[in-house]
Amino acid sequence: MPAADIAYVIFDHEDLDLTGRFFADFGLVPSYETAHEIGLRAASALSDCYIARKAQGRPGLAAIGMRADSMEMLAQVAEFPEASAVEPIERPGGGWRVRLRSPDGLPFELVHGIEPHRAELPCREPLRINHGQAKVRYGEWQRPEFEATPVLRLGHVAILTPDFRRNAEWLQSRFGMAPSDLLFDGQPENLLGGFFHCKGAARWTDHHTLALFPGNEARVHHTSFEVQDMDAQFLGNKWLLKRGWRPFWGVGRHILGSQVFDYWYDPDGNLVEHFTDSDLVQPGCTPGLHQVDDDALAQWGPPMPVSAFIDPWHTPR
Ligand SMILES: [Fe+2]
Repeated sequence: MPAADIAYVIFDHEDLDLTGRFFADFGLVPSYETAHEIGLRAASALSDCYIARKAQGRPGLAAIGMRADSMEMLAQVAEFPEASAVEPIERPGGGWRVRLRSPDGLPFELVHGIEPHRAELPCREPLRINHGQAKVRYGEWQRPEFEATPVLRLGHVAILTPDFRRNAEWLQSRFGMAPSDLLFDGQPENLLGGFFHCKGAARWTDHHTLALFPGNEARVHHTSFEVQDMDAQFLGNKWLLKRGWRPFWGVGRHILGSQVFDYWYDPDGNLVEHFTDSDLVQPGCTPGLHQVDDDALAQWGPPMPVSAFIDPWHTPR
């Protein structure tokens, strides 16, 4: 019984006010705020996709929430030895969850029954583009608004792991995820990373909802949010720069997944990404197999060696 999608991430932050200001400029909108927690939503009517909490201890990831389509799946996953019982979620929107830790010890939740928001937030339509050989706009100007680019939804989380095989098997056995593309070094048997899609009910699904990259320590590499189109991407980049936030890498286009990407550091140094125009795959498709090298990351964009991408916290830029 596979998970349908990612639902949310929860991060603990050093300074909640500063975090709120960053994510407002990044394009998320608060749906509730307390002294200790901010629920942030995207323009889609899905439930809150980012929960920012005031750190009581060490800041960082508090949970990656995966969405199940039924309580039955929660009951099944609650049987695994590393899982909690099914329990209510004490947060606006309610719902039910099972907490469980990955083999690397990262906190996951499988959730069901969270109330969606009543309506979408206003967001401009995709731009109509006059391509070289396909004109669609006659006598109309292209003037998208310069603003914090609205985020449409949470798309994926990429995780660093020192033990790819064990964690890949866990994603498949606990959440029914399947690889879209796998990464190897040297010999094809030497797998060290991969991109995993959800095999829930959708006919077409994101190329990856979770990704595993090789790393010396287990941690989130980045969390990624979809925006409307390329102009939203570049205007969002300009907005974040103008507001003084710290860029990591972008704008460019990845190879695996094809996303147009733009990575930023949040105030605690976590990486967050805007993406647009990503690939869709059919659940259960045959995975591709790719050698990891410095040309494997991007079709275009600023230069970025794999070693610097994988370790954005220790690379002076
Ligand atoms: Fe990404």
